[in-house]
Amino acid sequence: MPMKFGSIEIEPCAYGFVTALAPMANVTNPPFRSLVRGYGCGLTVSEMVASHHLVKGGVSGLNALRMERAPGPGPHVVQLLGGDPALMAEAARMAEAEGADALDVNMGCPIRRIQHGCDSGVALMRDPSRAGAVIAAMVSAVKIPVSAKLRAGASAHEINAVAVAKAVVDAGASMLTVHARTADVVHHGEARLSVLAEVKSSVSVAVLGNGGVATVEDARRMVRETGCDGVMIGRGALGNPWLFRALETAEEPVVTLADRRDAVLAYARWYVAFAGERAASLELRKYVRWFYGGTEVEPQIRAALPTFDSLATIERVLDEVTAQAAAIREVAAVESPLSR
Ligand SMILES: Cc1cc2nc3c(=O)[nH]c(=O)nc-3n(C[C@H](O)[C@H](O)[C@H](O)COP(=O)(O)O)c2cc1C
Repeated sequence: MPMKFGSIEIEPCAYGFVTALAPMANVTNPPFRSLVRGYGCGLTVSEMVASHHLVKGGVSGLNALRMERAPGPGPHVVQLLGGDPALMAEAARMAEAEGADALDVNMGCPIRRIQHGCDSGVALMRDPSRAGAVIAAMVSAVKIPVSAKLRAGASAHEINAVAVAKAVVDAGASMLTVHARTADVVHHGEARLSVLAEVKSSVSVAVLGNGGVATVEDARRMVRETGCDGVMIGRGALGNPWLFRALETAEEPVVTLADRRDAVLAYARWYVAFAGERAASLELRKYVRWFYGGTEVEPQIRAALPTFDSLATIERVLDEVTAQAAAIREVAAVESPLSR
């Protein structure tokens, strides 16, 4: 059965639950979101967009890039950051006018400047009634569905995801994600699956679980132990869109160097179209490392990174590295019977 996010329906993977890509600032840009959608990811969310910047500065610069719809099918969910109900309502209106299909509210960002300077991110977890007021203001400002991305709590002594979940659902949130770690540990340590399970059994809307999913088994365990409707994957998807394919098909894909090259080049072409060749070349230095991490050609790739100055160079380097590795493997296959 598809998962409902307001009027939006998201199809489940082969294991019967939904898969989503976690919003990651400076990572999950529109080309990356497109890429993972192509590998079967059910839902993607934009990088966070600060409501005060959006309302004061308009849809321009970094916000405009972050709010762009990822090419290809699938709902366009824009994540907003802010703690002031009126500003968040105005930002919601602007994002809807720009073409967002749904909105998400960041209630988990642990960065001090954001928590204390802007009363946003996880500061909302410390104040469930304000969290509810933010959602209520946004829901009455727009027609599209609104979700919230919570933490288990601000710290181990302040675990209150159930209270915040109830407050935001009562205020009109139509889906929740729970990053089942507390904000004080940022992204380290185990997710608190018992908190996720409690949230799931306390609210009537769909709940996605997030935190520490890097394999098919991690995803299945999270759903099995909590009853959540799907998993949201963050760092486990960096350089590994095949994780979504494995979940979509219930088959473990064999990922070759040629597959890695094809994925990187698909991303590179999207990025060139999105932000131009120079920006793409610099950006690719980061992504290529993720895609080739742990492979036999990682040292060659690392050595070539400073030469990445155009799509043609990147293509040439990746082709050469792929061909060299294939040739080495062929020689090894011929030599090994002789050496026996
Ligand atoms: C580089 C980076 C940037 C992130 N940016 C955001 C963001 O913009 N909005 C948000 O809600 N969470 C953000 N997060 C948190 C992730 O969405 C996710 O909750 C976290 O990485 C835990 O999931 P994981 O263990 O699967 O990585 C970010 C995490 C990382 C590593």
